[in-house]
Amino acid sequence: MVQLKKQIYAEYIQDRHGIAPEGPITDFLTREQGQILLGGQANLNRLANRHGAPLEVVYTPQITTQVERMRTWAEEARQISEYTGTFLYAYATKANFAAEAVATALAAGVHYETSAAADVMIAQRLWRQGTLPKGRLIFCHGSKEPNYLAAIRELRSDGCETITPVLDDLNELEDLITCPHTMQFGVRERAAGNRDGRHPGQDRFGLSGAEITRAAEMIAASRHRLVLYHAMIGSQVEDEAHFLNTLRDSVVGYCRLRQQVPTLRYFNFGGGVPTSGYRLGFEFDYVGFLTRLMRVIRDTCTEYDVPMPDLVGEFGRYTVATHSVFLLEVGAVKSGQPGEPDWYLVNGSLMVSLPDSILVEGQEFVIVPLNGWDRPVRPVRLAGRRTCDSDDVYPRPDQPPLMLPDIGEGLVLAICGVGAYQQMISGRGGAHHCLSPEPARVVFSQVEGRLQSRYVPQQDQATIMRLLGYPPQQQPVPLRIAPSAPVPISLGAMAARRRMRERVARAR
Ligand SMILES: Cc1ncc(COP(=O)(O)O)c(C=O)c1O
Repeated sequence: MVQLKKQIYAEYIQDRHGIAPEGPITDFLTREQGQILLGGQANLNRLANRHGAPLEVVYTPQITTQVERMRTWAEEARQISEYTGTFLYAYATKANFAAEAVATALAAGVHYETSAAADVMIAQRLWRQGTLPKGRLIFCHGSKEPNYLAAIRELRSDGCETITPVLDDLNELEDLITCPHTMQFGVRERAAGNRDGRHPGQDRFGLSGAEITRAAEMIAASRHRLVLYHAMIGSQVEDEAHFLNTLRDSVVGYCRLRQQVPTLRYFNFGGGVPTSGYRLGFEFDYVGFLTRLMRVIRDTCTEYDVPMPDLVGEFGRYTVATHSVFLLEVGAVKSGQPGEPDWYLVNGSLMVSLPDSILVEGQEFVIVPLNGWDRPVRPVRLAGRRTCDSDDVYPRPDQPPLMLPDIGEGLVLAICGVGAYQQMISGRGGAHHCLSPEPARVVFSQVEGRLQSRYVPQQDQATIMRLLGYPPQQQPVPLRIAPSAPVPISLGAMAARRRMRERVARAR
């Protein structure tokens, strides 16, 4: 009988996604001489060998790359479309508030978008120390509670003239209009939020047409200025034609308002711009999208006889999704039910690390093995070993299984696209589901032209216990190490054992 040769992973990824065994895997990940590199620099295989898995690798220069790429594409689009307004890139900090992420984005020249009182307080601190340079715009979104309004007033009183509250409700204006310093305002168009019917929940933000008119009248009668019109249609909008069609009516809204309000100068389309972090083979024509958007605005402005606005985008996912990855190791394989794929049990929690996998329908993440590219592929499902929750699986039960090398135990996976929202939703530094500890973290940053890294150890048990209100132990619990039996050496396990040996040696 002829034995059919099983497809190896390198062949599978080439056939399925057109990805060659060497070279780019995505626009943030490459494979060179069998090693996977994040941003062309952070060698994930080497990091897994040195530190073991689980490990989070944060590569902040990727944020700079994202910002620079978008600005280049926007400039190209401006030239093609003969758009006379400027393009402004703002970072939606809610995607990742980590100091290193925000500082890197600011160093790349972004403007700032806030979503909460605490966010404005961070902005104020960064503004005072110069990390957020004077002249950068600060757009304040979301429904504003009294402490959020107070934080905005405080930053304006401090001298920041570029803070721009984007009104979500007329009550906010009633409060802020009394501010003694001239303030610039934006209005958020409510109709844009769910015009396409695909973004329920998004339609609660912003002002109706009548409220926008009222806000414009109130501002015109005050010492303040209305400068910005905001229309965001939703998140992760990969269908470019749909994005533009949905935005078209908002551009008309801008033009009509501009006819009444000569100080209006920014059209802000918010977030929603997609990123390569979630799907292998992802493609999006950013230049084409921006060119067509600028043409729509140019033509509509001509029709309404108003100048072309400066165009603002608030990039959250796009900015930070791809700058960090989790490395998780398969520690055991458990057979699936008859006819179902086996389970690869990983040393982490998928639902804690990737909350969007259970919150956002159909949410995927790019998952790439670090080793085993020359091994046959097999269908598998991942399950988190550090919780006992039936939801701690990836992909979701209604999705097809992953195709991964058949190594099983010792396979190390890079889980990508995790830099935006995942840690903010799960919380950072907290007590997590089933007390799954946060993995160690290696953070790469560019400092004065040189790449530097720092290692942050795994969250320890004592910290978790303290957070939960358990008083510190009086007597330290002695560390008992069982004599180790020889086990097959794997990438991450090898490093873990080395660390264990070092710890034992130190304890002695
Ligand atoms: C007002 C506003 N701007 C920007 C963003 C960022 O969106 P994204 O992460 O899709 O870029 C959001 C996300 O919720 C938002 O509400």
